[in-house]
Amino acid sequence: MRVVILKNAAAVAQAAAEESIHRIGLADLNTPATPLEKPVVIGLATGGTPLGLYRAWIQAYQSGQISFANTMSFNLDEYVGLPPEDPRSYHAYMNENLFWHIDIPTGRSFIPRTNVSNLEESAADYEWKIEQAGGIDYQILGIGSDGHIGFNEMGSSLASRTRVKTLTKKTRLDNARYFDTLEAVPTMAITMGIGTIMNARSILLLATGAGKAKAIRDTVEGPVTAMVPASILQFHDDVTLMIDEEAAQDLSQREYYLESEANRRRIEQTN
Ligand code: F6R
Repeated sequence: MRVVILKNAAAVAQAAAEESIHRIGLADLNTPATPLEKPVVIGLATGGTPLGLYRAWIQAYQSGQISFANTMSFNLDEYVGLPPEDPRSYHAYMNENLFWHIDIPTGRSFIPRTNVSNLEESAADYEWKIEQAGGIDYQILGIGSDGHIGFNEMGSSLASRTRVKTLTKKTRLDNARYFDTLEAVPTMAITMGIGTIMNARSILLLATGAGKAKAIRDTVEGPVTAMVPASILQFHDDVTLMIDEEAAQDLSQREYYLESEANRRRIEQTN
């Protein structure tokens, strides 16, 4: 795992934008003369953490540096019980915070459909769509304060695929800030599974704030366990964590991660 420790949330957003633009190739995809046979598939997260990254992407797009015209996207999850037009749904979040401001082609951004009569069929269909798209090339992740990724709560099968999950009280409490009352927070979601996420070719996980410090320590330095779903990322061969000082505060090998990054930069400069 590559662990990049940065000063604060703004520095995380900036570094995540640079890293993802480079890794996805968003600047090269800017040339309309080179349409790709297969769009680059980006996995997207919602929540508070990626907002700075999305703002940086929008700015880079609006100033003509990058384009999403040759991409498609799959979101990690969506609440059950909120129609897409509900302002608290992840459909609405994505429209407001990203899709309305960039050039991702209409019909090429997918979010689990939860306003359907058959939720299990909808989840299976989402998994199939990801497969048909050739899998996810680059996945953006946040992390819950209990170590969840997507809405894969503690105890989720580490091999799980897209499915319906019941949200824990902790996750509902963490997300209650977007709703009037705790009771109004949906109790279920459709989420990509941990196996689905692990199939992504490359993963960028972002975390900021002291509330994520324990989850980050358990993810990076703890044993791999279904009780900390993000810890499975230790088995992925291309994961980068970009975290701020507060989220890094419980890491026992903090100095080592800083030194490794300094060495990486030195090597990049000499190449
Ligand atoms: C969101 C998602 C969740 C969040 C996590 C952290 O699509 O899948 O795993 O990434 O709950 O949320 P924030 O960023 O609001 O702390």
